[in-house]
Amino acid sequence: MNAQTEMKERLEQIRGEAMSKIGQAQTLEALGDVRVAFLGKKGRLTDVLKGMKDVPADERPQVGQLVNELRDELEAALEDAKGALGKKLLAARLESEVIDVTLPAPKDILGHGHPNAIALEEVERIFTAMGYEVVEGPEIEYDEYNFKKLNIPENHPAKDEQDTFYISKDIVLRTQTSPVQARVMETGKMPIRMIAPGRVFRSDEVDATHSPSFHQIEGLVVDKGITFADLKGTLAEFARELFGEGTKVKFRPHHFQFTEPSAEVDVTCFKCKGAGCRFCKGEGWIEILGCGMVHPNVFAMCGVDPEVYTGFAFGIGLERIALLKYEIDDMRLLYENDVRFLRQF
Ligand code: DAH
Repeated sequence: MNAQTEMKERLEQIRGEAMSKIGQAQTLEALGDVRVAFLGKKGRLTDVLKGMKDVPADERPQVGQLVNELRDELEAALEDAKGALGKKLLAARLESEVIDVTLPAPKDILGHGHPNAIALEEVERIFTAMGYEVVEGPEIEYDEYNFKKLNIPENHPAKDEQDTFYISKDIVLRTQTSPVQARVMETGKMPIRMIAPGRVFRSDEVDATHSPSFHQIEGLVVDKGITFADLKGTLAEFARELFGEGTKVKFRPHHFQFTEPSAEVDVTCFKCKGAGCRFCKGEGWIEILGCGMVHPNVFAMCGVDPEVYTGFAFGIGLERIALLKYEIDDMRLLYENDVRFLRQF
């Protein structure tokens, strides 16, 4: 047997094996492996080429041609198999990922305005219509602004009434929005007519009426000749706008360090119109805010001349307003953000 015949037989054998392996390959990776095994650098066909030195020189061209033909044939077979396999895999994928275009599309789930946000918008609408500006102050506040400039000196018992979260000796999470009063007065721009809504913090346990984080809306008016009558008229009008025409207001004397005189404001229960019910605990009245005439000490500490200017201030509990307006009996519901609850308002 001459070298050429022997080579032919060897190539024929390689051809048979390669074709059967190509036929068996079920994945593109398997096909790639077949290519490497036969046509790769250490592949079977390359081995044959390396053995060419043993073929007599005059037969090398023919043998070389046979090797090249087989290489071309295998390349073509690999390409064909790749194409066919690709189609098969695509068909399988289309089958498994079928989309039924007649099914109803999933609905986009939209959130809902929070009762606090809705109530705040309402309060802002009422005051901006009266010419008030809406301003903001920092939630992390100096002890000095949260207490001292509001006439609550170091070691004063009034400081203990608000369970304060201290960040350091001088920095607190504000316990009230009242420090915004000091910040606005210090700018020295007169007259002032502002409300300042925002989050406040107190180290309280959570229950139906308490939370360590809640919201207030501060109000401040400073000008020449502002009197308690302005305070009363403004807040009575506010209560009527918020709770309805027939709402009556009652000013109860109270004490706040930063106002003198001070009062708490009650409104007639919107549920029983003052007759007394479960909602107002039989009182007929519901407290909604604290207020008073700005204390001269506060003016002095914030750079406003108390001989020239007078003013009034008030602080509204936003959650209180939201709970009342929407007849919600547990404050915790406001913080759970369950959309099934929120959608009702
Ligand atoms: N800062 C008071 C509090 O958190 C509420 C308050 C009362 C604010 C009277 C005022 C005010 O501006 O005049 O309890």
